[in-house]
Amino acid sequence: MTSSDLVDSVRRAVGAVTDPELRRPLAELDMVRDIAVDDGAARVAIVLTIIGCPAATRIESDVRQAAASVPGVRSVDVAVGVMTPDERRALTDRLRGGRAARAMPFGPDSLTRVIAVTSGKGGVGKSTVTANLAVALARRGITVGLIDADVHGYSIPALMGLTRGGDVPTPTRIDDLMLPPVAHDVKVISIGMFLRRAGEAPTGAVAWRGPMLHRTIQQFLTDVYFGDLDVLLLDMPPGTGDIAISVGQLLPNADVLVVTTPQSAASDVAVRSGLVARQTGQRIIGVVENMAAMTLPDGTPLELFGSGGGSEVAAALSTDDEPVEVLASIPLSATLREGGDAGEPVVLAHPDDPAAVAIDRLAGALAATRRGLAGRSLPFTPR
Ligand SMILES: Nc1ncnc2c1ncn2[C@@H]1O[C@H](COP(=O)(O)OP(=O)(O)O)[C@@H](O)[C@H]1O
Ligand SMILES: [Mg+2]
Repeated sequence: MTSSDLVDSVRRAVGAVTDPELRRPLAELDMVRDIAVDDGAARVAIVLTIIGCPAATRIESDVRQAAASVPGVRSVDVAVGVMTPDERRALTDRLRGGRAARAMPFGPDSLTRVIAVTSGKGGVGKSTVTANLAVALARRGITVGLIDADVHGYSIPALMGLTRGGDVPTPTRIDDLMLPPVAHDVKVISIGMFLRRAGEAPTGAVAWRGPMLHRTIQQFLTDVYFGDLDVLLLDMPPGTGDIAISVGQLLPNADVLVVTTPQSAASDVAVRSGLVARQTGQRIIGVVENMAAMTLPDGTPLELFGSGGGSEVAAALSTDDEPVEVLASIPLSATLREGGDAGEPVVLAHPDDPAAVAIDRLAGALAATRRGLAGRSLPFTPR
């Protein structure tokens, strides 16, 4: 092999390394600089987006390994630099895919299916179901983003195993573009990450007013780099408050999943939250009944929260034009709860658990149905 062939091979190997946050190959991100190989000794220069980029160590070691794997390379020296402001601007422009800064990437023309998960009241397992659904979809090879919009009780970072010692991670920023942390192959952003940015105690959120919440949700949608997503899930706050209305205005083309327990008392409020979503133009795609009967070791069913709530809600939300069905019934499961407490979603940690099976089946059903594209243009975007 000539020395320029060897340089080309090293460049190809290094260029194929993916940035763990941006999830694109370094070559495409224009992060590979000079490469030289002298008598088997490779010198590789790369640039990162920002100084102290949290992924730096990982990228450096992946680059070293990639270069070392090229036959003919005996040693590798990696020099890590930082992009100039101009280079960074070029990169963020490219990541936005030609969309202007602050433009909405999930509008009616987007190919991303947006699913808002809502419930009437808190504590019905909405976040637990949403986090597991996101992971179950990702396991099927679907590109998933997850937004935690529950301002009063954000719990997605913990459920996804993203908290360290109770602290919610701060997203990396490239100028005004924010990179969502990735957990179990899901890009995650939480309102909790923003509260910390603002330097407030997490409880400060309770005092937030409508306009500020609206701006924050808008920022989630415009300034967070999700890339090309197949599905964007939103964990909504319970009920019909400011956020539900903001999301309805910002994402009128979203599909809505309503989570309820089998208890009648829970179902009335669940119906109301579904109706508010529909008023903004969103489509109710189904009801998920959670905390349904579990089977005890002796085979008898334990109906802790009664039964029938799911079908009651589905019937109340159904119209002649838009029938609404119960898409899943997820049984009570201590394993599901423990997985949530540990930040290890049950669909990964214990896929045979009955609750995990029910959630995975829901993921399969959602993956099989496409977003209704009636009246919407279909931009051709080869992936
Ligand atoms: N199917 C289930 N079986 C057992 N516990 C559950 C189930 N679903 C949720 N939980 C537990 O119920 C509590 C509330 O769930 P959470 O997802 O936080 O509800 P919400 O987001 O609706 O407020 C959590 O402790 C969670 O682990
Ligand atoms: Mg919740």
